[in-house]
Amino acid sequence: MYKSIIKPIFFLLPAERAHYLAMSLLQIVYRIPGMRLFLRHSFCVKSHNLQRTLFGLSFENPVGLAAGFDKDARWIDELSTVGFGFIEIGTLTPKAQPGNEKPRLFRLPVDHALINRMGFNNGGVVAATERLKKRKSNVIVGGNIGKNKLTENEHAVNDYLICFEELFPYVDYFAVNVSSPNTPGLRALQEKKPLLEILLRLQEVNNLKPKRKPILLKIAPDLTDEQLNDIIDIVAESKIDGVIATNTTISRESLKTTTTEISAIGAGGLSGLPLSKRSTEVIRYLKQKSGNAFPVIGVGGVHSADDALEKLEAGADLIQLYTGFIYEGPELVKSICSRLNMASKS
Ligand SMILES: Cc1cc2nc3c(=O)[nH]c(=O)nc-3n(C[C@H](O)[C@H](O)[C@H](O)COP(=O)(O)O)c2cc1C
Repeated sequence: MYKSIIKPIFFLLPAERAHYLAMSLLQIVYRIPGMRLFLRHSFCVKSHNLQRTLFGLSFENPVGLAAGFDKDARWIDELSTVGFGFIEIGTLTPKAQPGNEKPRLFRLPVDHALINRMGFNNGGVVAATERLKKRKSNVIVGGNIGKNKLTENEHAVNDYLICFEELFPYVDYFAVNVSSPNTPGLRALQEKKPLLEILLRLQEVNNLKPKRKPILLKIAPDLTDEQLNDIIDIVAESKIDGVIATNTTISRESLKTTTTEISAIGAGGLSGLPLSKRSTEVIRYLKQKSGNAFPVIGVGGVHSADDALEKLEAGADLIQLYTGFIYEGPELVKSICSRLNMASKS
C-alpha cells in the first residue's frame, strides 16, 4: 500500500512538506482507537532471535531509525509502532535554530537517493527534552547531539556538554555528531585533537553519573583510511562505546541523475542507495582494522533486506535507515526483521 498509493501522492509534494504531512497523518492514525494495535500487528516482528544486547542495552531488534528523521522527538510513540528496534532523535543543539533556507531537501528518484542541506534545523534541546518526558513507548532512544551554527569550533565542546546534560535522564545512548556536511566547519571536529577533547570531556561528565550511558561517535563516509585509523585510536583512547558509520556523503559519484539536475540542487549530503557501498566499506574497515574492538551501527543506503544483511556481514552490530524508509516505507523494517529471523532459524 505504501509504495503503490501513499508514496506516489507524497512524492508529488516538496520533500520537506511531504515529511511533515506524512508524520501528521501517522499521528492522526495513531490516535484512532485500536490503530496502535493494528499498526504493531502489521509492522512489528517479535522474536527472541532478533533481540540484541549491546553496550548494556537490550534491543528488541537490530533495525533503528537514523538521526534527522525525528529531530525534535515529536513522533517517538508513533514511530515505535512501525517496527523499529530503536529511534535516534536529533541532531539537537543547545539553542533552537532554523537551519538553512528552503528548499533544502531534494529527491533523486532514479537513484533512490536524497540530497539534504537542512543545517541542523531543530527546536533546541530543552524543547525536545520536554517531549521526551511525556513519551509512553519504551523503545530505545538515542540522543544525537551537535553544536549550534554560530558556536565557534573552539567552543564546540560546551554545546555538546549542554546537550549531553540536558538529555541525560531521558535517552538511552548518545551519538556525537561531528560529521554533518551542512554546518560550516563541523567536520573539522573529526580531526584527532578537537575530537578527543570533546569525547574526553563528555566521558569525564559521563563517568561522574551514578550510571554512565553509552556514547557513540557518528562519522562521515568521506574519511580517508588514515583518518579512519585515527578514529580507531580515538575510540580506544576515549573509551567511548562505539561508532555510527556513516552520515551522508559530499560525493556525487556514480549517480544516474543528470549532472545538470545535480548542479541545480547544489550543496548538501547525499543519502540512500548510492551511499550503500561506501558506508559498508567503512564498517568493514573499522571492524577489520580494529580487530572488532568496538560495536558499529551501520547506516547508509539500506533499502532492502539484502542491503541490511550486507551491512551485518561487513560487521555492523545494528543497522539504521532513513532514506530507505522514505522510498520503501515501513514494510522495509518488517521485511528486514522477517529475513533476519528466518536466517537465524536456518
Ligand atoms: C533529511 C535528512 C536529515 C538528516 N539529518 C541528520 C541529522 O540531523 N543528524 C545526523 O546525524 N544525521 C542526519 N542525517 C543522516 C542520516 O541519519 C543517515 O546517516 C544518512 O542519511 C545515511 O543513511 P540513509 O542512506 O539510510 O539515509 C540526515 C539525513 C537526511 C536524509
